[in-house]
Amino acid sequence: PEPGWSIEADVVVAGSGVAGLTAALRCAAAGLRTVVVTKARLDDGSTRWAQGGIAASLGEGDTPQQHLADTLVAGAGLCDEAAVRELVTEGAPAVRRLIAAGAEFDRADDGELQLTREGGHHRRRIAHAGGDATGAEVSRALVAAVRDAGLRTVEHALVLDLLKDERGRAAGVTLHVMGEGRDDGVGAVRAPAVVLATGGMGQVFSATTNPSVSTGDGVALALRAGADVSDVEFVQFHPTVLFLGAGSEGQQPLVSEAVRGEGAHLVDADGVRFMLGRHELAELAPRDIVAKAIMGRMREQGAEHMYLDARHFGREMWETRFPTILAACRAHGIDPVTRPIPVAPAAHYASGGVRTDLAGRTNVPGLYACGEVACTGVHGANRLASNSLLEGLVFAERIADDIAVAAKERGPADQERAAGHAPDARVAPLIDPAARVSVQRAMSAGAGVLRSAASLRAAAETLAAVRPGTAPVEPGTPPVEPGTAPVEPGVEAWETTNLLSVARALVEAALRREETRGCHWREDFPDRDDDRWRRHLVLGLGPEGS
Ligand code: SIN
Repeated sequence: PEPGWSIEADVVVAGSGVAGLTAALRCAAAGLRTVVVTKARLDDGSTRWAQGGIAASLGEGDTPQQHLADTLVAGAGLCDEAAVRELVTEGAPAVRRLIAAGAEFDRADDGELQLTREGGHHRRRIAHAGGDATGAEVSRALVAAVRDAGLRTVEHALVLDLLKDERGRAAGVTLHVMGEGRDDGVGAVRAPAVVLATGGMGQVFSATTNPSVSTGDGVALALRAGADVSDVEFVQFHPTVLFLGAGSEGQQPLVSEAVRGEGAHLVDADGVRFMLGRHELAELAPRDIVAKAIMGRMREQGAEHMYLDARHFGREMWETRFPTILAACRAHGIDPVTRPIPVAPAAHYASGGVRTDLAGRTNVPGLYACGEVACTGVHGANRLASNSLLEGLVFAERIADDIAVAAKERGPADQERAAGHAPDARVAPLIDPAARVSVQRAMSAGAGVLRSAASLRAAAETLAAVRPGTAPVEPGTPPVEPGTAPVEPGVEAWETTNLLSVARALVEAALRREETRGCHWREDFPDRDDDRWRRHLVLGLGPEGS
């Protein structure tokens, strides 16, 4: 649709998690007219839900080199080492800047930061806040800083498509502003720099730790805009998500790895610790290894879940160190002080996304991506725990610096051109929101923790049968012809359209990658195949894409 209203800016940032707000604050500090647009409220994204913390070599004796080594091991041969080096080198200073900006982390009696451990880390290097509410504190501090700085923000603004100028450069975004009873229709923010920081895509699966807003909007936009998207087959399934019953759908409560970092044990239906002897780090092995071990043991025992046993923490430790998790468990009738917690893996994090270079630039000039929506190369085939908030911080700062330099080099004519044209804005024909559940169920059944050619093809078939303007289709039933029932534009229809397009991309990549690596587990190709597959799958026009 043609935008009905428009805002002019130097930079538009889509998304308001740690990545988006960090980029926006730094752009504004560099004197750039910055607008933040966000789908719900400023603090409604995934950042607020992060529990464990932020990893950085902040502790005595720890070094960026050791953090790099752990990150590369978790990434299973697909990390971009140069990107990881930036992450771990700039990580500690970036966390200190976040603290200086107002974020309050937990400290020991001597005033030093308290650091915990999580899967794949050989040292205590995870800074945390409020015990297990790190993301909430980061979000609070950044939202306060954005308000103090007087940044222009537009809430309830779902970003739709990229605007481009006649040279193919980013020129802004279209967006639909609606929510809380208001509908301002489709408008545009016109700006020569566009930062995608829209978060992840966990809602593509039935059960996920992600909030309802994580519908892959940025990746879908990038695919429509011709930006390269990479590594989308590497969806991380968090090993320990509170099990709420078979078939539970939507956002599920996370039980942080930090609980294992502080000494909780994974036990099976017989109370046996099954991670011992499987990996030198036992329960603190990298996340993909723990998730696979849990799934394997569940199969062997015919169980729907395993247990996380932390009764030995005692009431006081539970209350002070993990108050959020304690409350979530109790809200579901489980008291972890007296009972082991039932847990099972659920979709948690997209390791891939919109492919960027070290400055966060995509292959579309003027379009940047950071945070979970991006594929900077730091995560490879499996993100190391608590590297995500860190990536958001570090790469958002790099993006802002790049935008500031580019703005100085731009002449008034470029600015004029960026403001004046929107020839390439387009939105895919809309999908009926009623199809959302079929997409999610097909993805969980066919493209979840365990995948095979057969399961992925079954998912692909269901996805192919979902057409614009049709009702949801169950496998095997013929699709209704497109266009028979036009779909009203609105957040749910845009989201379902985006979910379908990222689901298709994910299944395509997962089918093509005929090996098991990191969090991509193919039952029909159980081994890692470095000869054929130590490479990225790029969807779009990139050189490695075919
Ligand atoms: C957790 O607290 O276990 C999640 C940390 C992360 O996903 O990095």
